[in-house]
Amino acid sequence: MTETGATSAPALAEIADIGRDTVRGGYSRHLFDEADRQLREWFVARAAGIGLDVDHDRNGNIWAWWGPPGPGALVTGSHLDSVPGGGAFDGPLGVVSALDAVQRLMVSGFRPSRPVAVVVFAEEEGSRFGVACLGSKLLSGGLAAGTALALTDASGCTLAEVMAAAGLDPARAGRDDALLSRIGLFLELHVEQGRGLIDLGVPVGVASSVLGHGRWRLRFAGQGNHAGTTLMSDRRDPMVAAGATIAQIADLARARAGARATVGRVDAAPGGTNVIASRVDVWLDSRAEEDEVTRALVAEIGATAAAHAAAQGCTAELTEQSWSGTVHFPDGPRMAIRGALGDVPALPTGAGHDAAVLAAAVPTAMLYVRNPTGISHAPEEFASAEDCAAGVDALETALRSLAGRS
Ligand code: GLV
Ligand code: MN
Ligand code: MN
Repeated sequence: MTETGATSAPALAEIADIGRDTVRGGYSRHLFDEADRQLREWFVARAAGIGLDVDHDRNGNIWAWWGPPGPGALVTGSHLDSVPGGGAFDGPLGVVSALDAVQRLMVSGFRPSRPVAVVVFAEEEGSRFGVACLGSKLLSGGLAAGTALALTDASGCTLAEVMAAAGLDPARAGRDDALLSRIGLFLELHVEQGRGLIDLGVPVGVASSVLGHGRWRLRFAGQGNHAGTTLMSDRRDPMVAAGATIAQIADLARARAGARATVGRVDAAPGGTNVIASRVDVWLDSRAEEDEVTRALVAEIGATAAAHAAAQGCTAELTEQSWSGTVHFPDGPRMAIRGALGDVPALPTGAGHDAAVLAAAVPTAMLYVRNPTGISHAPEEFASAEDCAAGVDALETALRSLAGRS
């Protein structure tokens, strides 16, 4: 699919070989790893090549300015990182479309009445440090710098260490009011991650809302031991408690209308086939329209885990890793965009986005491009060349209208 994906939006072909995951399929591009570093370099060169002034903010996000930075800037862009084994479009489509749309405006002789910028947000997927939308949360103050800097990746490196190694000063991380005050509107284009536009039969839509979503770690602890010498009656096996809990999670979510709960990752320690685990970490993603529903569902899952753990002579501990409440995008920008584009549909989504995080600090809006597979966070994610072109057209039209003609 990545072959097909690479040919969909011409600029995606330029980065099609960066971060391919030969084990999982698709792409694995994680904050400040080699793939992310190459993608950042590509973006800086590409943005400078079309005449934008590139700037790195204090939180790992990259800004490319057309005109002096702010105030009242019209900002577009998205992210370049991926989930493990993700698709080619989630994030990069918004970045390449932003560069294309801005370049078209520049080449056409358009003179914006306000500054325009293309942004790349850091660690939107939270695949390395576990917190979704890390760059936009730091920028907007949605996550305290001290908490963020202490986050560790799978090999135990802290975000502070990784930022320092990438040339950023961790002491300067955190809410950036000067930069926020430059943003008049952030408009993010993104591949659609569900079936809304397929069902409506149109290539482009605008966002209405983003489901609240969070991540939790359920840590089951027991007694590591020998798989052959430990009688079944003598075990304190956290894997049994974890498995029993996971088996119930889908039904607990189905009992609450519209709620979702997913376990996509389980880590057993020490992780030997002939070893009863001493510890099992179960990573839970849960979402719902009403934040209280998500909270209640997660509390119920925590109680279920505790009961299964007790039945096995183990313990279970529930820890929140990341939280973003449900966001309804403001009416004004959405109405202005629909006014410019004509009668494009407005769609809710269950996927998280930097635009939803930033909505707490600045006006934001989103455009979606149809994904004919309806699949995302997987290599089958797709958008046709025609629909990618329709997305760039829509973004250019929206930017032209929002930035005012001269
Ligand atoms: C990011 O795409 C998410 O929805 O978790
Ligand atoms: Mn994603
Ligand atoms: Mn995304």
